[in-house]
Amino acid sequence: MKHLLKLSDLTSQEILDILNLADQLKYELKNGIEHKHLKGKTLGMIFRKASTRTRVSFEVGMYQLGGQALFLSSNDLQIGRGEETADTIRVLSRYLDGIMIRTFDQREVEEMARFGTIPIINGLTDYEHPCQVLADLMTIREYKGGLNGLKLCFIGDGNNMANSLIVGGIKTGMRVSVACPKDYQPDAEIMKWAYESGNFACTQDVFEAAKDADVLYTDVWASMGQESEAAKRREAFKGYCIDDSVMAVAKKDAMVLHCLPAHKGEEITKEVFEAHANEIFDQAENRLHAQKAVLVRLLK
Ligand code: CP
Ligand code: NVA
Repeated sequence: MKHLLKLSDLTSQEILDILNLADQLKYELKNGIEHKHLKGKTLGMIFRKASTRTRVSFEVGMYQLGGQALFLSSNDLQIGRGEETADTIRVLSRYLDGIMIRTFDQREVEEMARFGTIPIINGLTDYEHPCQVLADLMTIREYKGGLNGLKLCFIGDGNNMANSLIVGGIKTGMRVSVACPKDYQPDAEIMKWAYESGNFACTQDVFEAAKDADVLYTDVWASMGQESEAAKRREAFKGYCIDDSVMAVAKKDAMVLHCLPAHKGEEITKEVFEAHANEIFDQAENRLHAQKAVLVRLLK
């Protein structure tokens, strides 16, 4: 594994290895066992979009691993004034040991990997959010004791989260169901691959998707960059919400996850969110541990 560009690049075994290492690093952190695997290493973090969890967890993670992180907003870099990605990464490869980038177009992340000589980590694009899903899988394992055979249901927009969850879920042996409106389906190629696995269903019916689910997952109706479509999307996504009636058709002990930030009252009710707050904030915490595992795998 040289980069983390998208989850579909990883084998099932590579995903499980990251999750195992993440569990170990979490245990070590909680028990005061030092794990400075990245002493003297520097990670550059390029952001073309806002972030709370990704920025802070990567920065703290590098610190805990004995290295350091540089926050590089595209507003301040020449990349924001049109310097080519290929040139930027060829320069940054001379200074840094790795790059985490959050951007719009997946092609920019792929281009960095092509022109750079250091590991590139996708910190979210419009296409995928692999770091988030590694933390999600880690959290599901913690609560359910394993992943194989569980039913994971995603309700809402067929966006970056849906794409990465489909790939991550199926690669770890889960059955994945997605409920989204007709015009907001996940990536067509990912769905084709998912259908071929025999463990995937996509429907417009929220209750059909949620039936007997072990894990219910949702995300905002309008992602970063789609702010101008928010009103139109509010209409299109009416009913694509995790509420008590959806919880009632899932398994009794179903857990609820949300990558955050949440728009309570839209994709999830305040009541369901608060009833599952422990799971959701454990999930947010696990971004730190899962990403540290990715950093150790790629930068050590
Ligand atoms: N879930 C997630 O990636 O959060 P941020 O946008 O705050 O980084
Ligand atoms: N789908 C959301 C995820 C945020 C973590 C977005 O792209 O804005």
